[in-house]
Amino acid sequence: MIGASISRWTMSYFAMALAWLFAALALMVAGLGYPAAHLASPDTLVLVHVVCIGWLSLAMCGALFQFVPVLVAKPLFSEKWALPALGLLTAGLVALLAGFLGLGGRLPAWLWLLPVGAVLLVTGFGLVVVDLGLTAWLRPAGPARFVLAGLASLCVTAAFGAIFAFAHAGWAGSIGASILATGVPLHAIAGLGGWLTLTAMGVSYRLLSMFVLAPDVDERKSNMTLAAGALAIAVAVVGGMLAIWLAYGLNAVLSVVGALGLATTVLYGRDVIGIFSRRKRRQLELNTKMAVLSFVSLAAVALLGVVLVLTGAFAAHLGAFAFLAIFGWLSGLVLAKLYKIVAFLTWLETYGPVMGRTPTPRVQDLVSEARASKWFAIYHAGVWLGTLMLLAGQPSAFRAAIAMMTVGLVGIAREVIRTRRLADVEIPLRLPDGACAPHLLCARN
Ligand code: HEM
Repeated sequence: MIGASISRWTMSYFAMALAWLFAALALMVAGLGYPAAHLASPDTLVLVHVVCIGWLSLAMCGALFQFVPVLVAKPLFSEKWALPALGLLTAGLVALLAGFLGLGGRLPAWLWLLPVGAVLLVTGFGLVVVDLGLTAWLRPAGPARFVLAGLASLCVTAAFGAIFAFAHAGWAGSIGASILATGVPLHAIAGLGGWLTLTAMGVSYRLLSMFVLAPDVDERKSNMTLAAGALAIAVAVVGGMLAIWLAYGLNAVLSVVGALGLATTVLYGRDVIGIFSRRKRRQLELNTKMAVLSFVSLAAVALLGVVLVLTGAFAAHLGAFAFLAIFGWLSGLVLAKLYKIVAFLTWLETYGPVMGRTPTPRVQDLVSEARASKWFAIYHAGVWLGTLMLLAGQPSAFRAAIAMMTVGLVGIAREVIRTRRLADVEIPLRLPDGACAPHLLCARN
């Protein structure tokens, strides 16, 4: 990443994303949504979108604004679009949530808020997709292909979401109503599997090789992983729409998607093991060790899925399966990488301009891994306990596990803020002549 320009708004996306994650955990500790309410209840829809759009999508967009230009060694198509996109996504999410709360009777039933939210979200995501897509398209190889597949899946997710929102307001006719009645799994698969998982996989290949000093993953192998993943999403969307149109159930399509999803996970596991086995850095940094915990959760998601399908209990435990995928795999990986990216960008922003002219600290001097590791451990222990409690049908113990995750997250957020404030850098090295202290919420450039 050295030599790349620093994305001005990445920190703002990360801060907003963490704020939404805190909001989601607070709502879960308070007992809102699943498991107290049904998976498809409006309260659960609030939680799902706070996490999927507010936390994961914003964090991913923030990371991609920095990372895609590095991947293709070209500047971002337009740096100016990042902030308006953040505003549109935030406003759209608030309107969507208010619409869901109206749907559940917690606010007046102003269902027009759902389409209004959808239009704002589609516009915000549209800006992100065009900006990142036009940048990644300049060199569509390796991890950039995963990003392009992820962005295409985001378009599909947003399109389904918008149809649902218009249908809830009664503005999408009978076709919209029948897509809403059966198409929700397709929207969820495109969002969690296509947009978030494929993008996270692509980004992780490059970040892992960079941080463990390993050669890039063999492109033929990663292409095979991408092909399996993209095929899973394509079958879900095209096959699913066909099944809805022909009024068949989605079961056959979802079985094929499940098998392809499992194959993608196995191939990805093979690629990641390949990167680790060829690494030059023996002593792993905290962010890599914590990424390994998220890989363990991904493997556990795959295993849990297989066991639940074989025992005929998948529908009954879909909540536990999705919880582990969202908080163990996706959130675990995003938190580990966010911890490192903040340190790296803060270091580059503060010391890059004076490097070579005066002694500067190393990136690792901006963090205290010994202190941070316990917060990550508490977070992951909370996720695994929460999954077990959902499987065991223990809602109170589940809320206690969420409280544990919140404690871990408070610790991680505190570490990230300390990094941004250079609080762990020895005073004599902290601000050499010519260096400026970074702002907390955006880069200075
Ligand atoms: C334009 C943005 C979006 C809009 C307008 C939107 C809208 C909706 C609506 C209206 C529903 C409810 C359907 C029903 O009543 O059953 C829904 C469900 C869902 N959405 Fe979204 N969505 C959007 C983006 C996303 C994203 C980016 C993700 C994931 C990455 C996501 C994940 C889900 C999931 C998992 C469900 C099912 C939740 C459940 O049944 O509990 N959505 N969405």
